[in-house]
Amino acid sequence: MTTLAAITGSGLYTPTDAISNEELVLSFNAWVDLHNEHHARAIASGEVEAQTYSSTEFIEKASGIRSRYVIDKRGILDPNTMVPCIPERPDNEPSVMCEIACRAAEEALASAGITADTLDAVIVAASNMQRAYPAMAIEVQAALGAKGFAFDMNVACSSATFGIQQASDAIRSGSASRVLVVNPEICTGHLNFRDRDSHFIFGDVATAVVVESPESTSASACWEIIDSRLQTLFSNNIRNNFGFLNRADERGIGDIDKLFVQEGRKVFKEVCPAVAAQISAQLERLSIAPDSLKRIWLHQANQNMNDLIARKIFGRQPSPREAPTILDEYANTSSAGSIIAFHKHNKDLDSGDLAVLCSFGAGYSIGSIVLRRRESK
Ligand code: COA
Repeated sequence: MTTLAAITGSGLYTPTDAISNEELVLSFNAWVDLHNEHHARAIASGEVEAQTYSSTEFIEKASGIRSRYVIDKRGILDPNTMVPCIPERPDNEPSVMCEIACRAAEEALASAGITADTLDAVIVAASNMQRAYPAMAIEVQAALGAKGFAFDMNVACSSATFGIQQASDAIRSGSASRVLVVNPEICTGHLNFRDRDSHFIFGDVATAVVVESPESTSASACWEIIDSRLQTLFSNNIRNNFGFLNRADERGIGDIDKLFVQEGRKVFKEVCPAVAAQISAQLERLSIAPDSLKRIWLHQANQNMNDLIARKIFGRQPSPREAPTILDEYANTSSAGSIIAFHKHNKDLDSGDLAVLCSFGAGYSIGSIVLRRRESK
């Protein structure tokens, strides 16, 4: 008999610093004034482009984002820096990504009712790793006291769902029996806070889930993984050229393409239909009527995108209870977004309820997982 896999616990670490749209726009506009003043002559002669103010009304209407949590508020809001200040740590101290990953992991382990020494695999799945090696996952494994093996993986905003599928495959094949998938996302580290089109998009957070057999869980309830579908389609519309070869051509060091860059409109137009088609086909294949889904935890990048995708899947506008939103408070937290929505909005559902966890983003990448609530005891 094939071993089943289930999400048996989840955890969330939220930084204490938060930035409202008002604070962010105030800082951006102060920088615009400084920039335009400093380059007044070059702007007048057409050599330098004048910068334009950002607006809270635009941000909220275009994205649904109202605020974001960040590792360091001061550095981001200072118009002279506009970068989070995260001091480097000595090698014998936990790295910042490891630290926030462990905070989320501890909650996930507690909610699964297990201790770290019973894990036999740790996957750190995130959009960016703080260093090339050793793998962040191996540091997290050691810090938690987990056994077995650990590795990093990056599928941008889809890292968490792709990671859950790897965990589920490992359990079904027998190569692991209890896997931690953790998503430390320090998105403000790769966000250009001087880019009007995207300065409001991201926030920082860490999420974690425990994946194991529903037969052996000590948790009172879990989410059985019924099916998962992963899809990737190459696109340059969300891109970050930061990498280890940057130093091989010094001309490009510090250029803005070494941070997050996107063609937001194109992403919106191309990704929404692809996500809706993937989930609809998946449900049809499983003979699940969309209306029998009790919840859909979508990637949290843009409220208008989520409304459109959910409308296409359900054939109607689902209620906020059916398609919960967290991006108004957290902004886009890359791969962690759908896991935050899951973490905060799953415990009220009943045994047998069906739901979908879905992420999408750079690559393009789309991961959709059909889950069924199961009371263990
Ligand atoms: N403040 C005020 N106005 C702004 C602005 C800001 N911060 N940023 C852009 N604008 C202006 C633009 O200049 C443009 O003006 P124009 O019409 O005079 O040319 C107008 O607002 C519309 O800009 P546009 O970029 O077309 O907005 P949009 O409605 O597409 O919204 C995003 C922008 C980024 C919110 C939206 O495209 C999006 O979320 N796309 C999906 C992104 C995504 O999911 N990415 C995955 C990331 S992991």
